[in-house]
Amino acid sequence: MDSPLPAVENTHIERQFGLFEFIRRTREDQLSILVPDMYDRRLMSGRILGLRWFILNWPEYIEHVLLTNHQNYVKGRFSDALLVPVVGQGMLTSEGDVWRRRRRIAAPAFHHRSVAGFVDTMARSTASMLALWDGRNEAFDIAAEMTELTLDVITRTMFSADLGGEGSRVRQLMHTVLRSNRPSMLDLIGVPAWVPRFGSRSMRRAIAELDLIVQRILSSRRASGGDRGDLLSLLLAGRDEETGDGLNDLQVRDEIMTIFLAGHETTANALAFAWYLLATHPEVEARLHEELRDVLGGRPPEHADLVRLRYTRMVFEETLRLYPPAYAIGRAATGTDSIGGVTVPKGAAITIYTYVLHRNPALWPDPERFDPERFAPERAAGRHRFAYLPFGGGPRICIGQGFAMAEAMIVIASVAQRFRFSLVPGRSVQPIGLLTLRPKDGVWVTAAKR
Ligand code: HEM
Repeated sequence: MDSPLPAVENTHIERQFGLFEFIRRTREDQLSILVPDMYDRRLMSGRILGLRWFILNWPEYIEHVLLTNHQNYVKGRFSDALLVPVVGQGMLTSEGDVWRRRRRIAAPAFHHRSVAGFVDTMARSTASMLALWDGRNEAFDIAAEMTELTLDVITRTMFSADLGGEGSRVRQLMHTVLRSNRPSMLDLIGVPAWVPRFGSRSMRRAIAELDLIVQRILSSRRASGGDRGDLLSLLLAGRDEETGDGLNDLQVRDEIMTIFLAGHETTANALAFAWYLLATHPEVEARLHEELRDVLGGRPPEHADLVRLRYTRMVFEETLRLYPPAYAIGRAATGTDSIGGVTVPKGAAITIYTYVLHRNPALWPDPERFDPERFAPERAAGRHRFAYLPFGGGPRICIGQGFAMAEAMIVIASVAQRFRFSLVPGRSVQPIGLLTLRPKDGVWVTAAKR
């Protein structure tokens, strides 16, 4: 792939700010270190407290790390420091044989046939939320609503459970975990995760309370027994092919927490940004409404509609381009490698800022523009598949991709048929890069019935 961009720039990102300012920024909001220079470079590198760091912003280089030479890379110390304390050694964080086994056990729950079976639940949960919106005149934070909705959907579909009155508490606890869980200098220099970090007490308390909720789901399933055909049943029945052993309670807990964390906030944040973009782009909203009228004619969406809701899908895809919830994908090199002619030493950290990649002007003309037509088949044809990575790539690609796409389309189609939203003046929508990319102060809207 030819590129008009400079091949390699040793820019020493950290030197642009000074070390302490750089560390402060990575803790407060990682987007604040993404300087304009980064967007049109293919590879940048730096050194922070002795750690070599590479930022990749070019499809071939990224393909090399995530797919072609993925054996040379592991999730690395940021994953160990930020995710392991929350989700333990689950599918998101483990490596090698443990990861392969877990992914194999869980895979049937994410198969497209299973996702098709979840669509009814997704539509019903959305309808229950909408019933509460009728007659609502006051402004509200649609980001918080999306989080509770996706939490409800993940709990019902994957664990056949109902959080009932606890939904909003779980949302708050997850919020605490996600807000207080920030990379610190200790993580950068490789101090082990068990050394307490600033702010980790509130996080530990939140995790302990979440653990109790997970324990309740688990005990109630163990008591009722039987195969419910969901992820929880697969986890409880899963056997190691070699030893024949099942997963112990801690391992099942780690997988449940993984799916709770990975399976709701990401989709919710993307949906929140979708409502923001639709509220600020009336021409896109009008086209979306036209499609919904033509395909659904006022009835709730079903699984069979998904293939026909082409523009709805494009709207969500373009939202994920501009606001990818997993805005940074991290790896660490386990051996020396070469990327684009540059030597990557063993132990080096690699970051792929999808937020930057998706705004690289050499890949995306007029990158700031919200233009769902970019995903029309004729315009997407020929695009490098590693130029657009909201769900990652290679063997560690998101297992929930099909689930998330179906859920988002069902939610957008159900909600947009009934309501239009206006942003509340004076409440700006700002993305912030913490563990995920989220709207900093939510997305405050008023709703008008259609
Ligand atoms: C819009 C929504 C979503 C986005 C943007 C997203 C993004 C991602 C990305 C980028 C990765 C790869 C991370 C890496 O390579 O380091 C990933 C992995 C993962 N995601 Fe998602 N995800 C979403 C929804 C979901 C859902 C709904 C579920 C579960 C129901 C889920 C479960 C997982 C799991 C378990 C992994 C780890 C897979 C592995 O390592 O084998 N995600 N996700």
